[in-house]
Amino acid sequence: MGSLTVRNLSEDVKKRLRLRAAANGRSMEEEIRVLLAEGAAEAPVAAKAASAAKGDKAPATAAAASQILLIISGGIAAYKSLDLIRRLRERHYAVRVVMTKAAQEFVTPMAVGALSGEKPFTDLFDQHSEFDVGHIRLARDNDLVVVAPATADLMAKMANGHADDLATAALLATNSKILLAPAMNPAMWTNKATQRNLKTLLADGVVTVGPNKGEMAESGEAGTGRMAEPLEIVAAVEKLLGGGTGEKPLSGKHIVITAGPTHEPIDPVRYIANRSSGKQGYAIARAAAELGANVTLVSGPVTLGDVPGVKMVRVESARDMLKATEAALPADVAIFAAAVADWRTANEGEQKMKKDGSGQPPKLALVENPDILATVSKLKSKRPALVVGFAAETEKVIEHAKAKLKRKGCDWIVANDVSAEGGAMGGDDNAVHLISATGMEAKVESWPTQSKDGVARQLVARIATELNGKTT
Ligand code: CTP
Repeated sequence: MGSLTVRNLSEDVKKRLRLRAAANGRSMEEEIRVLLAEGAAEAPVAAKAASAAKGDKAPATAAAASQILLIISGGIAAYKSLDLIRRLRERHYAVRVVMTKAAQEFVTPMAVGALSGEKPFTDLFDQHSEFDVGHIRLARDNDLVVVAPATADLMAKMANGHADDLATAALLATNSKILLAPAMNPAMWTNKATQRNLKTLLADGVVTVGPNKGEMAESGEAGTGRMAEPLEIVAAVEKLLGGGTGEKPLSGKHIVITAGPTHEPIDPVRYIANRSSGKQGYAIARAAAELGANVTLVSGPVTLGDVPGVKMVRVESARDMLKATEAALPADVAIFAAAVADWRTANEGEQKMKKDGSGQPPKLALVENPDILATVSKLKSKRPALVVGFAAETEKVIEHAKAKLKRKGCDWIVANDVSAEGGAMGGDDNAVHLISATGMEAKVESWPTQSKDGVARQLVARIATELNGKTT
């Protein structure tokens, strides 16, 4: 049997086998027998071990050690699958990826491989992959198959039992539960054929997450068809694998967050600004979304990208930020991490201001901006149950923050030292004090210096405890 197998192998595989056999001091036939025996005995463990060897940290729980087969089909939402891989790996899932031919038009196997820690599988008739794993083992050696994005075409093939490429062959051969994250143009989603296929797939026991309603990646298209956000898919995975409870500490809560600086125009080309990077507010938005909150992030001009799974509202000036924040209410919690400019120019020039030759600089008259935190804290009907402000101070940090808490009427203040020595402004670390108003007295907690992500996670966990007594 061994010689029959060797004869049928490609020259390249034969060469690799010869080298491996020589290194182990075996004949090629013996080497094949060893490989087959190892494969049969250790198949389910091998993928996890390989992934761990490639630098994954030790799984946090037995459930989180699960192996996921992610199938990426060819839709524009495939770019989100890269973030999905990252999110799954963060939670210590081993992720093995199959990409359809069309998927490779949207994201490269190299990018996918870099994130998953393993070369993705792309071809049913690729002798290397067949020799290394084989499509049946690929289909079987996993705890869950996730298809994200699942295009209309792939759903149609699945519903009809096609197996003409590696993705569909694996889907047909698997014994594992299948989770689909459909993504397509809204007209394709509502088309009777797709809905018929969906019904068939649901009846076959396939589980779906999304699609969501909203703007599509293609310009000018909106409706139901957007792929679920990576964090929603992760929540669905956790629910199916029993790794998480499905219900997270901030599920169902709406949190509005302001972040970044504001730009106050002087004329069409100049503005007043400050050094805020937005990192702290963005980290809070990310941490809140991870705990299941429905987050609206009202952001001033920053260089940071959108936070996945978060509703982004980008604004320029303090007045725009106030408008966007009010429009985002009602909310359970509002967190004001923005470094709002205190003043704007009284008369914004319609044209670029010119030097008049006198050598005298122009006088800039300033007026005070609306205080967004104070405005929301004092709302009668739509005041969030918990309003959290930040206090950026360069001296007497706690004393000034306590006064600010009272003056602005919020519930908590996160005070941070923004003096040059403090390094919080624009930097990655932050040393903060949480000041809460309990009766007449303000309570002060000083947290250790930590990354802005750490501060964000601690703050959001405290908020979860405050809202419903749940800890993370
Ligand atoms: N804030 C706001 N709107 C403003 C000014 C500040 O919402 N126009 C919010 C900030 O987002 C922060 C808190 O108020 O949560 C305190 O901001 P900070 O800049 O520290 O305080 P100021 O109100 O500017 O007070 P001061 O300049 O006296 O320190």
